[in-house]
Amino acid sequence: MDTTWSPSSWRDRPAAQQPEWADPGALDATVKSLATLPPLVFAGEARRLTADLAKVAAGEAFLLQAGDCAESFDAFSADAIRDKLKVILQMSVVLMYSSGVPVVKVGRIAGQFAKPRSSPTETVDGVSLPSFRGHMVNDIDFTDAARVADPERLLTAYHQSASTLNLVRAFTKGGFGDLSRVHAWNQEFVASSLEGQRYEEVASGIERALRFMAACGIDTEATPQLHTVDVSTSHEALILGYEEALTRRDSLTGDWYDCSAHMLWIGERTRQLDGAHVHFLSGVGNPVGCKVGPTVTPDEVVALCEALNPDRIPGRLTLISRMGADKVESALPPLLRAVRDSGHPVAWACDPMHGNTFTAPSGRKTRHFDDVLAEIAGFFAAHREAGTWPGGVHIELTGDDVTECLGGAEEILDEHLGTRYETMCDPRLNARQSLDLAFRVAELLQQR
Ligand code: PEP
Ligand code: CO
Repeated sequence: MDTTWSPSSWRDRPAAQQPEWADPGALDATVKSLATLPPLVFAGEARRLTADLAKVAAGEAFLLQAGDCAESFDAFSADAIRDKLKVILQMSVVLMYSSGVPVVKVGRIAGQFAKPRSSPTETVDGVSLPSFRGHMVNDIDFTDAARVADPERLLTAYHQSASTLNLVRAFTKGGFGDLSRVHAWNQEFVASSLEGQRYEEVASGIERALRFMAACGIDTEATPQLHTVDVSTSHEALILGYEEALTRRDSLTGDWYDCSAHMLWIGERTRQLDGAHVHFLSGVGNPVGCKVGPTVTPDEVVALCEALNPDRIPGRLTLISRMGADKVESALPPLLRAVRDSGHPVAWACDPMHGNTFTAPSGRKTRHFDDVLAEIAGFFAAHREAGTWPGGVHIELTGDDVTECLGGAEEILDEHLGTRYETMCDPRLNARQSLDLAFRVAELLQQR
């Protein structure tokens, strides 16, 4: 680890995508008070996730990282969190049952409140205002007042993350994640669909397997893996004052951990090698991710590996490729070969969302389900060519019945997008599309 690193040493480097806070004094006061609040996760939990991700890097497990593009201060209910967990659990069961590969589950949840933007301002009818940067920073309404960057929001984000995490822990450890409840995870509006029925078959197969094990005399009651599930939290480490305030020294090892989430990632817009984000995450012990898009070079990717994982710890670094369906098969293989030849142990995941966003004729930002699947297929093909392991997927989804992405079995068309377009930022797959995607990914895993 860099001996000049400290939780605040990022301040000496250029930090992209930071809001212009109206009152920097108020920001400092908020960051100071955040630093006195309890950590949200523990270092030991982050280390356990690193160990799980090491299996992904070694080709022995598959990463399912999924959740909202941006969590909202307004849409914050137990039902919404439960339904998101349901779809993630359904997807992981489909993947594991069909492919026999263990699935490491990480939510974009309990802290995913800040968004990088392509432009610092948004112009509507000749009026320009600061862009919406996520509820950790400002509000989405197009008014002067709403778009002011308010440090008080860092505290609200912390408290909402704490409540969300509490519920995630309760659901996953308190019986909801029990494998005997696989049928109960199928939501009513999904169950009647083709994907829902296909899921019912998987759930019945699991039930039969559990009964079979019990009949063989295996004490399934005493097997904790069947009754609880690990779902880790993650978000983009964007607003560095917030991350700094939650970075604490682990009493066991003396190392620094960013205790705002188990895993943190660097976005495509903030992965500058000499920038503050790479520097900040280079110093924390958590598993970290880094997005890589079509403009990254093989040398840059290897340099990112060196910067973020100089000790070559397996599971420490996940590279999340987000190329676009039309570019993945040409852009990804040179990166895979470069990293493979460098000997860096990375987990590779595919974000098939952010390279496939476009504006539909209706004016809504959307993605087509076919492009999402095509990018995943291209990701698998690139790994086959390089002889490397397609380690996972990184998906924007919701458990709700929204109409934000085109296509899928229910054939969402542009004219349907307005029906339930509820996202705070990017368009998400709905529960049916997400389940369908899990079946397709399971097929790709089986074909290997
Ligand atoms: C995101 O994951 O929401 C995001 C903004 O991704 P990227 O940095 O890859 O554009
Ligand atoms: Co997004």
